[in-house]
Amino acid sequence: MLSHTKLIELAERFDTPLYVYDAEKIAEQYRKLSTAFSACNARFFYACKALTNINILAYISSLGCGIDCSSINEVKLALYAGVPPQKILYTSNGIAFEEIAEAAQSGVHINIDSLSNLEKFGKRFGNGYGVGVRLRPNILAGGNLKISTGHEKSKFGIPIDQLDGLKQIVSQFNIKITALHIHTGSDIKDADVFVQGIKVLSELVSHFPDLTVIDLGGGFKVPYEPEDEETDIALIAKKLASYVDSHLSANGKKYELWFEPGKYLVSECGYLLTQVNVIKDNGAQVFAGVNSGLNHLIRPMMYDAYHHIANISNTHADEKAYTVTGYICETDTFATNRLLHEVREGDYLVFYNAGAYGFEMSSNYNSRLKPAEVLLKDGEALVIRKRDEFEDLLKSQIKLL
Ligand code: LLP
Repeated sequence: MLSHTKLIELAERFDTPLYVYDAEKIAEQYRKLSTAFSACNARFFYACKALTNINILAYISSLGCGIDCSSINEVKLALYAGVPPQKILYTSNGIAFEEIAEAAQSGVHINIDSLSNLEKFGKRFGNGYGVGVRLRPNILAGGNLKISTGHEKSKFGIPIDQLDGLKQIVSQFNIKITALHIHTGSDIKDADVFVQGIKVLSELVSHFPDLTVIDLGGGFKVPYEPEDEETDIALIAKKLASYVDSHLSANGKKYELWFEPGKYLVSECGYLLTQVNVIKDNGAQVFAGVNSGLNHLIRPMMYDAYHHIANISNTHADEKAYTVTGYICETDTFATNRLLHEVREGDYLVFYNAGAYGFEMSSNYNSRLKPAEVLLKDGEALVIRKRDEFEDLLKSQIKLL
């Protein structure tokens, strides 16, 4: 974890609000995954929807990790960052077929998540382009319903109970199904969810003779609250390896296991640095209002997500309860009655675990500017995105009146 002194130095040098990412933490997380799964014939594709800065994509690729994309623009960003197409995966959902066709033009791996697009794919490519299918395994998992994707009411994937329809399309167009994919949700710490997932898929493998990959998606939880324990990745790997040995090795075929971690790779590397604009005591609560808001970090308001906050400017003072809010002109509460070392106007407050779905979900709401992003790598602080300027708000507007 970066020291308070380092964070203050960065806040003073680059101003706030500021996103900071620590490259070494990303590398450490990737090492943990690859070590844990070393017996599993595993490959990892970073779910870049968590944070798409092209320098992050290039850095993660340089570690040996592939990139998982959820839009054609993410595919283009990964290619632009220098990631070779065979290390890019496009797991699509609800998209127009043209995007799939465009992805196929660049030669990336593709997972298709509807019978309708699979049929169009078959018509266009026949058996000329091996492809994966995203299935809906009917497993309820994940931190909350908004980030839960594998259950029976979910829009994601082809329901496994539509296997007959799927096989019919595959045989009609002679499609080469090379991968079966599921992603059950985000914030999963229970190893058995992954075992349940592979069990569902292993019952289907015999229907797809060209299959080489079983893709279990992402979702490994990271600790957000101080009392959260780390997800036991080694246990997940051990359980999956043992399942593969006993159930999937009978025909002598060795499937690759693919994973698409987002949060696990980039959540803990990220810090959002802010400064306190106003302290307001309304009698019932003391508000600490910072120079940021849901426009920069929407997770607390959107998912009731907990982000640890520290006042790094006054660490020896006594703790008091503060409701930390933003400067947006609607309720944007980061934390309610949170104990912080006494907060004064001008103090720096840091939000931890801000790497995943932080900057990435930011907006210009209230015509506020997006923060700069800094990557700490090999002892250097690299500005990888400059702070928005007023002109950025006008960039795409057309003044006609
Ligand atoms: N693979 C697929 C197909 C996905 O849809 C996702 C996330 C991932 C992998 C990566 O999941 P992760 O390892 O990051 O949990 N904005 C929400 C999370 C949305 C996740 C969407 N899909 C949040 O901030 O909690």
